[in-house]
Amino acid sequence: MLCRLIPHRSAPSGVLSAVRGLVSLSSTRVCAPSAATRSPSVCRTKTMPPRPHIHPQVRASSNLAKQKVHISSCATALTVSFSDGLTSKFDSIWLRDHCRCPECFHQVTKQRLVDTFHIPADIQISAAVLNQSGDSVELTFAGSTHKTVFQLEWLKTHSYNPTLETASHNLKRNYKLWGAEITKNLPVVEFDEVMAGDEGLAKWLKNIDVYGIAFVKGVPPNCEATEQLGRRISFIRETHYGAFWDFTADNAHADTAYTGLALQAHTDSTYFTDPIGLQLFHMTEFTGKGGKSLYVDGFKAAAQLQETYPEYYELLTQVCIPAHSAGDPKTIIAPSPRSFPILNIDPITEDLYQVRFNNDDRSVIDGKTLIRINSKTGAKVDVKEFYAALKCWVSILRDQENEVWIQLEPGFAVIVDNWRVLHGRSAFTGHRRICGSYHGYDDYRSRVRDLCYGSSGRLDI
Ligand SMILES: [Fe+2]
Ligand SMILES: [Zn+2]
Repeated sequence: MLCRLIPHRSAPSGVLSAVRGLVSLSSTRVCAPSAATRSPSVCRTKTMPPRPHIHPQVRASSNLAKQKVHISSCATALTVSFSDGLTSKFDSIWLRDHCRCPECFHQVTKQRLVDTFHIPADIQISAAVLNQSGDSVELTFAGSTHKTVFQLEWLKTHSYNPTLETASHNLKRNYKLWGAEITKNLPVVEFDEVMAGDEGLAKWLKNIDVYGIAFVKGVPPNCEATEQLGRRISFIRETHYGAFWDFTADNAHADTAYTGLALQAHTDSTYFTDPIGLQLFHMTEFTGKGGKSLYVDGFKAAAQLQETYPEYYELLTQVCIPAHSAGDPKTIIAPSPRSFPILNIDPITEDLYQVRFNNDDRSVIDGKTLIRINSKTGAKVDVKEFYAALKCWVSILRDQENEVWIQLEPGFAVIVDNWRVLHGRSAFTGHRRICGSYHGYDDYRSRVRDLCYGSSGRLDI
C-alpha cells in the first residue's frame, strides 16, 4: 500500500540543512500551505487511499494486510492502524528523532546520531510506504531524501497516543514471592555448570531474577573459587569494606557484621545513595554453635503490608529514612539525598522496586524526616504513626511463615538481590569464616537482560 502526500510547506532551510548529512533542500519542491492547514489546531487525519495494484497477495492472505498507515492532513503525524484494529498516532518529530538507520543511530554503540535539535518541530512526512508483507513502513520527510523504516510492531510497542499494550510492552519482572516453604525446593544450580558456560550462568541469574535469592552447590570452599563465581556475573563493587571480602568475627570493621551478635533481617548499605545490588556469601569454615542464616522476601512482606495495612504501606513509601555508616575511623557515609523511603516505588508504574531497610543503620528521626513525599493528603507525619507503621512492617518480616532459616555449609554459596531480600543471622560462638562480594545492581540487571531476556532485553533502548 502506498500513501503519499504533497507537502504543504518547506521547513526553514537553515534548520533543515543542519540535520546531519540527511537533507538535500533542492530535492523536493513543496507547496505553500493553505490557510486551513497552516495551523496544527485544525490538522485532521486523512486516510490515504491504497493503491490496489500493490501487494494483492498480502491483502488476501495475511492479517498484516489489515495494517494501514495514514498521514495527517498537515503531514506532521502518522496514524497506524494495526491488524487487531487498534490505532495509534505518532508525531513526525518523534518519528524523525527515533529513526534507527545507521546515519541516525549508531549500530554498534546504540547511541543516537541524529541531532534532535535540528529537526523542525513541525517536520512534514512526505510519504509513508508499507512494505510487501505489510509489517514495516518506510517514511520520507519533506526537504530530504532520507528514508526511515519502522517495524509496525516496534511502533506499537512504543506507542503513546494512545499507548497500546503489547506482549513485549512494559517488560514486567516475573517475581515469585516466597516464604518459609522455599526451603523444600531451593533454587539451586551447580558450581561447575555456572563456570562452564553462559547456559549455566543464565540458569543462576534467572533464579536471582525470579526469587531474589539463589544458591550454588559444589563450590570449592575457598576464596579463589568464590571470587571467580561472583565475577561470572560482574566485576566486584568495592566499598569501604574492601572488594572481595574474607572475614571472621574479628571486629576488623566497626560493624555488627564483624561480630558474633545476632542480626535481624535487613538489607545492606542503606547508607549508600545506590545500595549494593547483589551480595554473594560463602561460609568456607565453621566450627562452633549458632550462626544460622536468615532470609526474608521483602517484596512478599511489602505485599502483605499493602493488603493488611494499606495506610502503613503508603506511609513507608512516603517517609524518607536517613541512614549512615560511621563506625570506621574517617568514614562518615550517608546517602545523597540524605534519606530514602523503606519501600521505594517506581514513580510511573507505582511498582515496588527496592526495599531499603536496616533499623540498626537508621539515623535520627526528626522534623526533616517526618514528612511525606508525593502526598496528596498532607505532609506532616505523626511520630507515633511512623512507629506504628514501622512496627507493623517488622512484625510481618518476623512472621515465622516469612522467615527462612538455613544452616549454610562450606561449598553451598548463596546470593541475594539486596534490593528485595533481607538477610540476617542468629548469634554464634566459635570460628565462622565468610567470604563473598558485592555487585552493582545495574551490572547484574545488564547480565540478566543479555543472558535471560533475549531480544526483548534490548527493546527499550
Ligand atoms: Fe548484612
Ligand atoms: Zn535515519
